[in-house]
Amino acid sequence: MNIVTPVVIRGTGSFVPEQTITNDHFTSYLDTSDEWILQRTGIKTRRKVSEGESTVTMAAEACRRAIADSGCDPSDIDLLIVCTATPEMPIPSTSCILQGELGLAGAAAFDVSAACSGFVYGMVIAGQLLTTGLYKNVLVCGAEVLTSVTDYEDRATCILFGDGAGAVVMSKSPDPERGFLYNDLGADGTKWDYIWMPGGGTREPISQKVVDERLHFMRMRGRDVYKIAVTKMQSMVDDALTACNLTPDDLSMAIMHQSNRRIIESVRTRLKLPPEKVSVNIDKYGNTSAASIGLALDEARRSGRVKEGDIVLMMAFGAGVTWATIVARM
Ligand code: UT7
Repeated sequence: MNIVTPVVIRGTGSFVPEQTITNDHFTSYLDTSDEWILQRTGIKTRRKVSEGESTVTMAAEACRRAIADSGCDPSDIDLLIVCTATPEMPIPSTSCILQGELGLAGAAAFDVSAACSGFVYGMVIAGQLLTTGLYKNVLVCGAEVLTSVTDYEDRATCILFGDGAGAVVMSKSPDPERGFLYNDLGADGTKWDYIWMPGGGTREPISQKVVDERLHFMRMRGRDVYKIAVTKMQSMVDDALTACNLTPDDLSMAIMHQSNRRIIESVRTRLKLPPEKVSVNIDKYGNTSAASIGLALDEARRSGRVKEGDIVLMMAFGAGVTWATIVARM
């Protein structure tokens, strides 16, 4: 087994807010149905922050759980990477606010903005910085309050998104057999306007016009994204397995970004993987962007579906457009 990045995921943690939005909520004021939402997306419910909750409060809980699970002391963490498209505020970085909240005095901290691929981007960056020896224990957290940028008058997008956070603690591998067998990051910026939020940045700073024209909400060319997501995710799997000289049977688990049940299913069918080897929680949480893989990984570990020594594929595709893959021997 060729380990290219000798790092391990020592601990995982996640958090979702209590408040739940059911499909029935949308049918009460939009021209939609539980059947349409379930059939086209696989989503039954999604979570939403309540008063007092934010990206940082959810991230802090997920991180505390990941640190506790790893057996590290918070003072052992020397780098914090937060992956988010919905930062706590524009300045400073969410990672700095979280670093203070967690009491990780002296740890370096920065944010990664790669939307749904963010968490896998963050883990690949952490892997490289651990491999060089620059850092010893890296905390990577994906956290999103997508409900704050969701247009609840747009039936094509508002049914999709939810809030949550997932985190991992990564360290250099103590065992030469364990680590990442493959990491790949990519982007195609010519498609930046497939999923975007027009207002609130420097091109269209926040103003009454931005609010009146609802430019401060996320927009998506759903069908176009769907088509390239399916094609790209399938080729990403092929590239990863070929590079690692693995067959789908070698995979213990595939953890894919939870954007649409049909996209996950298309990759599963192509790989001929049994349903129990593919992580699905989109029914409960919807699309949580950068939190999605961390949430699913934590669930899979805690339920015993991912164990030490297992070969796990983690894969995401999202706004940018961006994509990212890791094959890990856990
Ligand atoms: O996380 C980042 C990556 N994101 C993704 O990968 C998301 C990719 N896209 C998708 O998952 C799907 O495109 C959606 C779930 C967003 C939409 O599903 P679709 O099967 O692609 O539907 P569509 O956009 O092609 O729309 C089909 C029809 C349209 O009506 P007409 O034009 O055929 O009359 C829509 O207006 O469904 C209509 N529609 C709805 N109907 C009932 C759109 N939203 C709804 C709705 N309820 N909520």
